[in-house]
Amino acid sequence: MPNSNKTKIHIGLIGLGVVGQGVWKHLQKHKTDLGRRLGVDLILKKAAVKDPARERSVKLSDAQITTDPMAVAKDPEIQIVCELMGGTTVAKEAVLVALQSGKTVVTANKALLCDHGPELFAAARAGGGQIFFEASVAGGIPIIKVLREGLVANRFSTICGILNGTCNYILTRMEREGQGFEAIVGDARKLGYVEADESLDLDGWDTAHKTAILAWLAHGRWIATKDMAVEGIRDVTLHDIEWAGKLGFKIKLLAVVQRDSASGRIFASVQPTLVPRSFVLANVDEVFNGVSITGDVVGTTVYIGRGAGQDATASSVISDIVDAALDLRNGGCQSPLPTDNPVDLLTLDEIRNCYYVRLEVKDKPGVLAEVATLFAQKDISIESVLQTPACDKRSAHLILTTHITTGKRMADALQEIARPSGARQNPSAYP
Ligand code: NDP
Ligand code: HSE
Repeated sequence: MPNSNKTKIHIGLIGLGVVGQGVWKHLQKHKTDLGRRLGVDLILKKAAVKDPARERSVKLSDAQITTDPMAVAKDPEIQIVCELMGGTTVAKEAVLVALQSGKTVVTANKALLCDHGPELFAAARAGGGQIFFEASVAGGIPIIKVLREGLVANRFSTICGILNGTCNYILTRMEREGQGFEAIVGDARKLGYVEADESLDLDGWDTAHKTAILAWLAHGRWIATKDMAVEGIRDVTLHDIEWAGKLGFKIKLLAVVQRDSASGRIFASVQPTLVPRSFVLANVDEVFNGVSITGDVVGTTVYIGRGAGQDATASSVISDIVDAALDLRNGGCQSPLPTDNPVDLLTLDEIRNCYYVRLEVKDKPGVLAEVATLFAQKDISIESVLQTPACDKRSAHLILTTHITTGKRMADALQEIARPSGARQNPSAYP
């Protein structure tokens, strides 16, 4: 039973889909325990949905349901507004309205933060409210808290991570079952991992949004996705997964935020990447996410957990609600955010990597020599070459690995490679 002497904090949800229903369910379930620990009553007041007739796993009264996000954002009794609808238009308007009236916003919406972060955080400062966003990166892993608080003593040289549960689930099953991409994506949908706009997941943009948030927390600068190298997993073939395996690697969609020690400049990228099997992130499979952070004080620390899905995400949203409630109860802000830092970016041309390249070429004399000559002309040093017949016997797979080179040299070489090799399809090239 609620204790009438306790402070009451009213919570509103904008969105009662996969994540919203998880938050409603678990907050109801743990309400008494959380209330006791916090010394406040957390009261779920209202939720905005698009279709009130839709079947849901949680039961709300008619008075608790609205179809108007603003009815939640503007409700004078609601102090914590949880934006769990997704998108960057209506969600942005509702979040701004809530912040302008001094409310605290909890959001899982990485696209919104990446596209409008500076404006939203400025609105929070101006209105005297706050934004919490633990669920926006790496699902149930409390990675925001790690960067914002746990590792606050550090400067970060490298952050790399598997940040998209859907892509990791698909790549894992492709590798284990030898099934193509299309056969598996439907299962990811059924499990509630995939964004309403699937391109966000499959083309790497969701990972890029999360990468921008991590880069901002680590370095104080928002990096626009146009300034990152971003590639998704649609073109990763079973051939590539198999060859990577033979070479001792697994292919993961890897986000990287790196600080160049000489210049102090930073870069961010999202690419299918060959991860050595001996590195812990190579063994982060299925819907799990993993993040490795290297700081100058702590060294390297690694975090692994469920990166998507109802319960894992609800866990992070509820952690934010609790932090928000504590701040409201204590009348302050306990969670320092980075200050703006005008650090410069490395250009895409300057990013250096070793590469794996797979070409399907005509199996005839001179092709290998032509490919090797082209790489030499681009000043790319080849580390190893393997050749194996393709299915039609008249073609061959040519697998090259290179020593360190720049992204620009590799892009130039790939653009020209079709000519000498008589390539049958686009080459695969991954760092
Ligand atoms: P869903 O599509 O499952 O849910 C969206 C909810 O928003 C639905 O309840 C929908 O109503 C409601 N909604 C949509 N448009 C409107 C509108 N115009 N007015 C009122 N309500 C509206 O999305 P998820 O729960 O999966 O994701 C929500 C957010 O969480 C997104 O930002 C996503 O990126 C993020 N996220 C998702 C994770 C996941 O695993 N699913 C993990 C981490 C973050 P109705 O139900 O009636 O259709
Ligand atoms: N679609 C996202 C993913 C949800 O698969 O990782 C979690 O952010």
